[in-house]
Amino acid sequence: MAPYDPQVVAPFFPALSANGDRLYLDSAATTLRLRCAMERMGKFYGESSNVHRGLYRLSEAATEAYENARSLVGKYIGAETSDEVIFVRGTTEAINLVAHSWRRTFPKRGDRIMVTVMEHHSNFLPWQLAADEIGADFDVCGILENGELDMDDFRKKLSPRTRMVAVAHVSNTLGTINPIEEIVRLAHGVGALVLVDGAKQSDAGPIDVAKLGCDFYAFSGHKMFAGTGIGILWGRKNVLEAMEPFQLGGGMVERFSGNNSQWQQLPAKFEAGTPNVGGALGLAAAVEFLMDFPWEDQFNYFLSIREYFERTICEFDGLRILGNPALKVGVFSLVSDRFHAHDIATALATRNVCVRAGTHCAQPLCKKLAVPASLRVSFSIYNSIGDAQRFIEELHWALEFLNLRMAS
Ligand code: ALA
Repeated sequence: MAPYDPQVVAPFFPALSANGDRLYLDSAATTLRLRCAMERMGKFYGESSNVHRGLYRLSEAATEAYENARSLVGKYIGAETSDEVIFVRGTTEAINLVAHSWRRTFPKRGDRIMVTVMEHHSNFLPWQLAADEIGADFDVCGILENGELDMDDFRKKLSPRTRMVAVAHVSNTLGTINPIEEIVRLAHGVGALVLVDGAKQSDAGPIDVAKLGCDFYAFSGHKMFAGTGIGILWGRKNVLEAMEPFQLGGGMVERFSGNNSQWQQLPAKFEAGTPNVGGALGLAAAVEFLMDFPWEDQFNYFLSIREYFERTICEFDGLRILGNPALKVGVFSLVSDRFHAHDIATALATRNVCVRAGTHCAQPLCKKLAVPASLRVSFSIYNSIGDAQRFIEELHWALEFLNLRMAS
């Protein structure tokens, strides 16, 4: 697909044509779904059976399609081998898997785990609990006023005792793109592993785990134009091999032997129970769509949205955008001096504008910024500058409406 144009992308998303004047600016919560992903899922449910179990053709075909999906995802993200690609329920499960299995294998009392204050709860709470259970210190790297990570604070808190650094590739609230390669270089320098939460990167740019150099990378299908309940944990093979399983059950046991059972090799060791095969096939269809996606052109297009959006928001009285990082994706969180974000979002909803209001599952960040809530507007590959213009018009209307109600 070349060159990039949101008008060319939009017809691949049935939800955009099905609902008239609806303006969807909530892709950070979940992206709209590609037709090809939905069709692939439907085809699986219409004519398939379980994977890795049956000796008949229907099941063998499902196994083949499932494993092809794994290989394709592996290729897309730059994995060395598809064994490093684990199908999970989503980013949350991927991170919980690592926090649970890694802590049973590697760290000890007195070690340190570091997260950042801009993490989604999914990449904060599991590590806080792990630190608590291990008796490790829990460090939280701060941010600068512009919403970028405070790398001086990162260096200060990083110690030879740090065993794990867990960080978002992109903040789901500020849109900040974090310097993952630098973080990995510093963390590896003290012998720490790095887990990257890629949930908000997956609809905004390519994923290349080899280039990033991290040890784990997690993302979700529903934020990458595919279905809910499917996601990926990628992990470095030697680290995954050394880790204990997360869940126990069917499909992950090589040989039962009382209390000393042998687990399957990767990736089966981490995929207990019947997997979400339909979801995996839908995700593979989305990956096929994205394989040659012109991300660089899309990012340049987004820069024009960013310029317009930031300039026009500045013209509103008492309204500001949280953070202004040099590098960001299409996520803008707005705070009004006058109105609660929920009121603005509710007014916008009456005009068929879909945005999210609240803390965006990032309460440590809200606490740090001292904002009870914000109005999050998130753009994806199918949003045009015309969408940004319409949003600004609707926001004028919503604030005027709320002003009038307050006056009456
Ligand atoms: N984690 C998703 C968000 O940021 C749901 O809105």
